Amino acid sequence: MIILGIETSCDETGVAIYSGAQGLLAHALYSQVDLHARYGGVVPELASRDHVSKLLPLVQEVIDKSGIKSGDIGGVAYTAGPGLVGALLVGATIGRALAWTWGVPAVAVHHMEGHLLAPMLEDNPPAFPFLALLVSGGHTLLVEVEGVGRYRLLGDSIDDAVGEAFDKTATVLGLGYPGGPALAALALDGIPGRYRFPRPMTDRPGLEFSFSGLKTFALNTWNASGKTQQDRADIARAFEEAVADTMVIKCRRALQQTGLSSLVIAGGVGANRRLRERLSTLMQELGGNVYYPRAEFCTDNGAMIAYAGYCRLRAGQHESLSIKAIPRWSLEELPAVDAG
Ligand code: KG4
Ligand code: ZN
Repeated sequence: MIILGIETSCDETGVAIYSGAQGLLAHALYSQVDLHARYGGVVPELASRDHVSKLLPLVQEVIDKSGIKSGDIGGVAYTAGPGLVGALLVGATIGRALAWTWGVPAVAVHHMEGHLLAPMLEDNPPAFPFLALLVSGGHTLLVEVEGVGRYRLLGDSIDDAVGEAFDKTATVLGLGYPGGPALAALALDGIPGRYRFPRPMTDRPGLEFSFSGLKTFALNTWNASGKTQQDRADIARAFEEAVADTMVIKCRRALQQTGLSSLVIAGGVGANRRLRERLSTLMQELGGNVYYPRAEFCTDNGAMIAYAGYCRLRAGQHESLSIKAIPRWSLEELPAVDAG
């Protein structure tokens, strides 16, 4: 079965073709970073309009690159949520329409399920069950994963998502949008230990996260500093250390609580090198395994949507002719897919 995957939930237009027999055949991404940079964040209306103009040419490009014909496509998977409703509607409408034109089923994919399953596209995929740490611009989730669609939410952020905290702290430090990668690059020059940030909510039991205090702490530290480039780098370093430490503490707890020994890290912040290193060290210490998608499949992409859609379409799940866009959508609402 060959599936076309479409991702338009935020500021990247992603398209991919996944084959059950041959794996990922082609993928392409158009990032809107330049479009939103001058506003310091994603402008939803501009994002939707840009998806409208980029999506169909990108679909054509991916079909051409994959070497298949549109008639070979057996199903269309599109991101139905969570995300920006206007942006979601573009992918949902075009995805649904293409499926109708080709006479094949369409499936509405949960964006975070896409992230969660992205490591399955790599050579050494994780086996179920595993613990997933999903860290993106909109979510910070710890999920017990027993199979596709078998998700138990263990922890969530009570305020800002971790990617949002990276982006806001980057803004405090005068870095551009999107701030996460810029802050991570700057942290490389930071002197470790010069500043110490809190490790939020680690002093009490539980698996909830809170990150909004870190950006305030960064703001106060920045204002009290000499505002040199070294201060900036040292604050970035201290922020990143605090996030990584907090993740290590919460993952250790979640692994102990569930008895799981495999950890999957996915979502945009999963591209963060320090976080990867720290969590790899944790899993080495615990004698478990850690899995990440390649960096380009940590951030939003069409490949993860094609793969998640493949898992569901293969199991016979698909939508009616309606166009589905669900801006707020819990992972736990998803139907399970039988193994096999
Ligand atoms: O998964 P994603 O591409 O989009 C959402 O679903 O939100 O995640 C984007 C988030 C942004 O907040 C971005 O700053 C952050 O991931 N990010 C990073 C890194 N690369 C992307 N944060 C820290 N370090 C990175 N290397
Ligand atoms: Zn995402």
